[in-house]
Amino acid sequence: MRLLTLAVGIAGVPSLAVVFLTLGGWIGGWPALTITAIVWAVATLTAAIFLHDLQLLSEFVRRLATDETHSVRQRRTGPIIMEALSRDLEHLVRVLAPRAALVEQLRRADTLILERLPDPLIVLAGDRSVRRANAAARAAFGGEMAAVLRHPDLRSAIDRTFSSRAVQTAELTLPVPMERDVHASVVPMDPPLADGGQAIVVLSDRTRERVVERMRADFVANVSHELRTPLASLIGFIETIRGPAADDPPAQKRFLGIMAEQGARMNRLIDDLLSLSRIELTEHQPPSDPIDLRDIVSGMAASFEPRMVKRNVHLAIDVAEDLPRVAADADQIAQVLQNMLDNAMKYGRDGGVVGLTIQHPAGGSRWPNRPGLVISVSDQGAGIPKEHIPRLTERFYRVDKGRSRAVGGTGLGLAIIKHIINRHRGQLLIESEVGIGTTVSVWLPLTQTQPLTR
Ligand SMILES: Nc1ncnc2c1ncn2[C@@H]1O[C@H](COP(=O)(O)OP(=O)(O)OP(=O)(O)O)[C@@H](O)[C@H]1O
Ligand SMILES: [Mg+2]
Repeated sequence: MRLLTLAVGIAGVPSLAVVFLTLGGWIGGWPALTITAIVWAVATLTAAIFLHDLQLLSEFVRRLATDETHSVRQRRTGPIIMEALSRDLEHLVRVLAPRAALVEQLRRADTLILERLPDPLIVLAGDRSVRRANAAARAAFGGEMAAVLRHPDLRSAIDRTFSSRAVQTAELTLPVPMERDVHASVVPMDPPLADGGQAIVVLSDRTRERVVERMRADFVANVSHELRTPLASLIGFIETIRGPAADDPPAQKRFLGIMAEQGARMNRLIDDLLSLSRIELTEHQPPSDPIDLRDIVSGMAASFEPRMVKRNVHLAIDVAEDLPRVAADADQIAQVLQNMLDNAMKYGRDGGVVGLTIQHPAGGSRWPNRPGLVISVSDQGAGIPKEHIPRLTERFYRVDKGRSRAVGGTGLGLAIIKHIINRHRGQLLIESEVGIGTTVSVWLPLTQTQPLTR
């Protein structure tokens, strides 16, 4: 059919010319018939060759398109009229093949970069539906992805991005699966990504930074408050001594005593703060020198002696016989012991027993399954209600502020212990029962396990 149409197309005009020439009497009947027959024969042959070539060429192009390796070698016996065209096509494909491979490689690299980015990232199509989400987004939001995208502030940032074609941001607080502060950036993709993505949403978790910011603000507020109280009292007494009590030596003596106490309190607070920041500075490098804990224990027991006598407290020391040396900072471990004993003295019972033990950890799951030593201090004081225990190592956290302040506490002792034990890669455990007493234990890892030879 195509052959006939093409042959008619080729032979049509010359045939019509022959008909006119015959009708006009310029050529005779026989010559006209002969010319027409020749024209039709040539037209049919040309059409046949042309169609055959076209068929071969289209097969060739089809093969080039489907052949991934672009190694198609067309028989040169193929197209007759269009041989040059087929050769050019083959050349074109060969030139374009590496470019296509490069484009594919870049596309894969882009996909991989998005997939591996540490921040959660969601690709949106033009209709705001999720095209894909990277590994971090799947891990962070999983099934909650749709709920996150429905957040009114994020939705409005997405709408603004699509209408303005500019980057828009939003600060979100996501309530599920746990409360998180997230900074969202919606970036338009112009031109769109290979998969049709028209915008990407990058969600950076800022929860930790917010917590740190809040902690810093609380810390400054706490320090100022702790310093302001004794400072206000000092200023008050100075004014009293200069004014109403100017001629009252016994009152002056009493006030000076209180002022000295307040001054000492401020001094203690500043010492504690400085030692906390010093410990934090070295927290990333654990100590390596082996020390003998027995020396520290005996020194500490001696220094607490006067306070014990005053409060009629008995110190029961129980140290394991085969105590190995531990890699520790002697001054810092002394501070840990001092803070533990100080609490036992301050919050323990008058006339009670304070226990100080250093033992190999008993079997069980309380401590890490590695060689270590456990230092414990126990008292028979009023104990600590359960709900306070997890917060005791926070700076300035006190169960009973009034009582702690009355006994000279600043609320930093356990925070200092925690940081020192962190630096030693150890663990801290506070156990308490209201009305019975409190035991504070620290586990220190052993790096050198041979018994100490004296
Ligand atoms: N052995 C204990 N018995 C009862 N309560 C305790 C005991 N140890 C600590 N606490 C409670 O925990 C709080 C925090 O203790 P921490 O040692 O950190 O601070 P502090 O003793 O108040 O002050 P500082 O140790 O800085 O002088 C205390 O205020 C107290 O309420
Ligand atoms: Mg204390």
